[in-house]
Amino acid sequence: MRVLVIGGAGYIGSHMVKRLGAAGFAVVTLDNLSSGRREAATYGEFVEGDLGDRDLLDDLFSAAKFDGVMHFAAHIEVAESVGNPEKYYRNNVASTLVLLEAMRAHSVNHLVFSSSAAVYGEPRRERIDENHPAEPVNPYGRSKLMVEHILRDFEAAYGLRSMRLRYFNAAGADPGGPIGPCHEPGTHLVPLVLRAASGRLPRITVFGVDYDTPDGTCVRDYVHVNDLCEAHMLALRALWDGAPGAAFNLGNGNGFSVLEVIKAARTVTGRPVPSRVAPRRPGDPARLVSDSTRAATELGWRPRHPELETIIAHAWGWERVLCARVDHASCH
Ligand SMILES: NC(=O)c1ccc[n+]([C@@H]2O[C@H](COP(=O)([O-])OP(=O)(O)OC[C@H]3O[C@@H](n4cnc5c(N)ncnc54)[C@H](O)[C@@H]3O)[C@@H](O)[C@H]2O)c1
Repeated sequence: MRVLVIGGAGYIGSHMVKRLGAAGFAVVTLDNLSSGRREAATYGEFVEGDLGDRDLLDDLFSAAKFDGVMHFAAHIEVAESVGNPEKYYRNNVASTLVLLEAMRAHSVNHLVFSSSAAVYGEPRRERIDENHPAEPVNPYGRSKLMVEHILRDFEAAYGLRSMRLRYFNAAGADPGGPIGPCHEPGTHLVPLVLRAASGRLPRITVFGVDYDTPDGTCVRDYVHVNDLCEAHMLALRALWDGAPGAAFNLGNGNGFSVLEVIKAARTVTGRPVPSRVAPRRPGDPARLVSDSTRAATELGWRPRHPELETIIAHAWGWERVLCARVDHASCH
């Protein structure tokens, strides 16, 4: 089986490329390296180029038959999407439409799409399932929801079936290396906390300690990146077995607060994690936790690394690699 991985040089996509390679698939990675790194795509063929380049896609789809496409490519920073929505709608929506047109033209009918918990907006319940209202509160979330709508329409009209996987907070790294999150400066909590532990960051900022949560800090659902990849394997196989397209939440179903993440990082690394408190950021809900029952019952997905300490230990392995690479004077 041959799979095209778009965005395979990024954080989650690079883990997917490795997983597909280990499973014996033929893999082609397409990435424009806007935030990815060429060396992160450790398996198969690499093509540097843009998702919105129709001629390039026609060349790729004409050169070999693809049994499926996994589409990770996107801009992903919520705050940036608020200040520069055009950038997000162009890349995340318009370029995805180009991909879908090319897939149709070449009769490539199976797609696994990286959606996001950001499609839900303000949570109305303790745990969010797929029937929770989808009312995104920023252009990033809206760009993901727009693509989901397009995908449903393409399935109904053209038979292009797609699994829309709504990730909660991807975290961790492959313990076998050498890949991991590479967003600099980045906004994701686990890499930032570990950067503070290694000394590459002076301290971590805790935004808001007055939320209605047990310790007053925001609660999020952290899911191991390799567990996300496993869900993609299951989703693609389900499409090959004839399943109709659907949306699935991917989370652990366990929420951890910012302070719990910092505490776990101190335990795992044996180092201090300097922190400071700042006011709440606008638009940060108190609690975002997944109900992933549908992925369990319909795809047979079970996270293998649900423990926060395991996720952090694997992420710490990657932070040590980064530390060695940058040879940062303050790296412990
Ligand atoms: N990281 C998370 O916690 C999280 C949560 C929910 C959803 N997601 C989604 O998962 C996907 C992957 O996220 P990530 O954290 O790995 O991000 P990332 O930035 O590490 O990876 C995205 C990759 O796509 C590439 N890319 C972007 N635009 C492109 C284009 N037009 N053509 C070709 N390549 C392009 C980038 O160079 C990069 O390698 C994204 O779609 C994101 O919205 C991520």
